[in-house]
Amino acid sequence: MSFEPFDRSVRCAIVGLGRIYDLNVRAYLDNPDAEVVALVDPDPDRRAQRQSDWPNASTFASVEELAAAGVEVDAVEALLPIPLHVDGVIDLLDHGWHVNLQKPMCNTLADAQRMVDAAEANDRVLRVMENYLFYEPLVRLRDAVTSGAIGDVVGYHLKMVASGRGGWDVPMGSYEWQFAQMQRGRGILVFDDGWHKLSTALWLFGSVREVRAWIGETEVVPGVAIDAPTTISWEHDSGVRGVWDVTLAPDLYLRSDYYTNDERWEVTGRRGYARVNRCTGRGVQQPSLEVYVDGEMRASHALDDDWASSFRDSGRHWLRWLRTGAGPLQWGADDAMQVLRFALAAYESSAAGGLGVDPASVRDPVAR
Ligand SMILES: NC(=O)c1ccc[n+]([C@@H]2O[C@H](COP(=O)([O-])OP(=O)(O)OC[C@H]3O[C@@H](n4cnc5c(N)ncnc54)[C@H](O)[C@@H]3O)[C@@H](O)[C@H]2O)c1
Repeated sequence: MSFEPFDRSVRCAIVGLGRIYDLNVRAYLDNPDAEVVALVDPDPDRRAQRQSDWPNASTFASVEELAAAGVEVDAVEALLPIPLHVDGVIDLLDHGWHVNLQKPMCNTLADAQRMVDAAEANDRVLRVMENYLFYEPLVRLRDAVTSGAIGDVVGYHLKMVASGRGGWDVPMGSYEWQFAQMQRGRGILVFDDGWHKLSTALWLFGSVREVRAWIGETEVVPGVAIDAPTTISWEHDSGVRGVWDVTLAPDLYLRSDYYTNDERWEVTGRRGYARVNRCTGRGVQQPSLEVYVDGEMRASHALDDDWASSFRDSGRHWLRWLRTGAGPLQWGADDAMQVLRFALAAYESSAAGGLGVDPASVRDPVAR
């Protein structure tokens, strides 16, 4: 790819103006690296609502209308429902625009390859954003690990409790496409939210050589099953093992400004441990990062542990990257494909009764 950094602010279109726009937009506000020139969504109420953030941007009901209008666009923030990611992103790339796509990238390796091929064919950059890599407590957890402060890592544990009460409103339209995803075997906890957890595992400890999973389900309303209780464990190429347990507590109230996920990461070293106590929600009200070594606990009380800031910083990183081309994309499409392989290995393992599966060996299941 022959990417040339922009020597001016990047002309951006935001495509999809739903729930997560509220967080992604933070990267664009007061950012001289970007100029928001277009807003696209078929929903006229969404367009009117978001226009107030960008009075000078043009609004369109579709990407086709945007392209036909001749508005000059360099890059797109793609906030589309997951079932539209593949064809939607290929279309955006075919228009000659760089794309910052929300996760999960897509459901299958074949579709991921189509997206990568479209980026290459158009000589454009496809990024699959991973805001968790920009959440300050997790960044500092990673620093504690790589600094050697807790000694050589001997194992780690991620935990998530999905709760049914609290948090912000999610539009019914979002549930409709999430149900479609579930019916394709891509559940909201393991695949959608899980994308973040698997990303952090790869980011912290590198490639994974074996995954063992036990993916359960709980019917919440007739015909709709959530993919918990679930336990996934894995071993990195380094030999470090991780485990993630996913629990559904439908009646549990969790204070949150966003989704109601109670999340934790705990890395154990030979001398101590480092723990992130919360992320999306405001579950455990201790400092968001604690590091224990040799009988002393060091607690970080003043981190930017508002989950929304991770969206701001991930998006700013992308826009800066477009201006400079410097450093890793976090994540590029190849990284995202490793996350997809990790998830598919978990599904394959669970279907086989928990047998170990190497993510490098997974193939797409035959289409249902
Ligand atoms: N990083 C995270 O933690 C996180 C959290 C939530 C959602 N997401 C991701 O963000 C994306 C969007 O999720 P959401 O919760 O905002 O969904 P949403 O349903 O609230 O919003 C989607 C929007 O896209 C619009 N849309 C539908 N078809 C379109 C088209 N062809 N062109 C343009 N717009 C179209 C809809 O009208 C809607 O306004 C998904 O990929 C989801 O996985 C990521």
